[in-house]
Order: sequence, then structure tokens, then C-alpha cells
Amino acid sequence: MKFFIDTANLDQIREAQNLGVLDGVTTNPSLMAKEGITGRNNILKHYVDICNIVDGDVSAEVIATDFEGIIKEGEELAELHEQIVVKVPMIKEGVKAIKYFADNGIRTNCTLVFSAGQALLAAKAGATYVSPFIGRLDDISTDGLNLIAEIRLIYDNYGYDTQILAASVRHTMHVLECAKIGSDVMTGPLSSIEGLLKHPLTDIGLEKFLADYKKGN
Ligand code: E4P
Repeated sequence: MKFFIDTANLDQIREAQNLGVLDGVTTNPSLMAKEGITGRNNILKHYVDICNIVDGDVSAEVIATDFEGIIKEGEELAELHEQIVVKVPMIKEGVKAIKYFADNGIRTNCTLVFSAGQALLAAKAGATYVSPFIGRLDDISTDGLNLIAEIRLIYDNYGYDTQILAASVRHTMHVLECAKIGSDVMTGPLSSIEGLLKHPLTDIGLEKFLADYKKGN
């Protein structure tokens, strides 16, 4: 399973990259605003800065919601860097735009997906990635992981190439469950990746090994 980090914070992106397990980055307008990145030029520059830190795909989200606007913005984003994947919302105009981008060799991430039907539509339109938001579903008492399982079943039934990118991952159990279900990618905060490291028996065991070494040396 690929690990993406879901942030626009360059320090956290560097930290994850330095761990050696990072496969890409997802951002969204809220994450950009959180880092104080505003204004079109600053936002575009920030995407390039992110691409220069990581080796893998970097999702950059369009703001337009009409077909022509999405195409114009998406083409501008895709031109920025070869690692850019254009993030398009799951709306009618978005589906049309995903089909256009697929026909024109521009990779897409269909975002704000909350149902298997939406994921089926994204795959039929030719999305590179589909992003079901599992944490936000859990927030409203709906099983987000079950949605990943449903999409996996549907995509496997027909051999769709669209990669399932489990988004809105909040913690390590989401990461583990997504891996068990067979999600192609997960995107979450740095804590959801670093949390996988932790086990008290590892810490206790290491402490004892080091203490025993010291006794004999
Ligand atoms: C997906 O690409 C989104 O950026 C993201 O995962 C949303 O997560 P949130 O629900 O924690 O805001």
C-alpha cells in the first residue's frame, strides 16, 4: 500500500520523506489555508516546493466548479510539474472534466467521494485515483472502512485501473484496516504513519538489550 501524507506543511512532508516510506502528498484548499498559503501565485509555487521534496504524486486541487474552469485550472496545475495529479471534486462537471483529462493524458484524483456509486462513476470517467473520505464518514456514524471494502469489490469485479486512495485517515487503525482491505493508497497525517512505529515491548526490549550490552562492555 502506498503512503501519502495529507498536509501542505513542508516540515512534515520533509519529515515523512526522510523516513523513507513516503509515496506522495495530498493537499486541499483547507490544508493550504492552514499553512497561510494564499493567493494563486503563492499556491502554485507551494505545489512546486512540495514536488521538489517528494518523489511521488502530489495532488493539487482545482477551485473552479464549472467544466471550462476546471479544465483551465487543471491544465495549469498539470503544467507545473510532472508529479502533479489534478484533484477534481465529485460533481457532475467534475466527472466530465475527469473524462476530458483522462482522454488528454492528465492524471486526476477524484475527491470528496462518500459512496460506492460515486466511486464507480469516477472509475468509469477514468480517474487515476478515487478519494473516499473515511474519517468524515466515521464522524457521522457511517462506517468509512466499509466503503473502502465496497469500492475494492466493485473495482476488482471489473478490473478498473483507478486506484483507491483512502482519504481522511485519522489514525493508525485506519491505516492497518485499509491495508487489510486492499486499499491501493492511504493518505493521512504524519501521526498516522509514525504511530505505526510504536510498541511498548519494542521500547522495553531495546532498553534491556542496551543495558545488557553495557554490563559486558
Ligand atoms: C483528501 O485528500 C483530503 O485532503 C483529506 O484526506 C481530508 O481529510 P480530513 O477529513 O481529515 O479533513
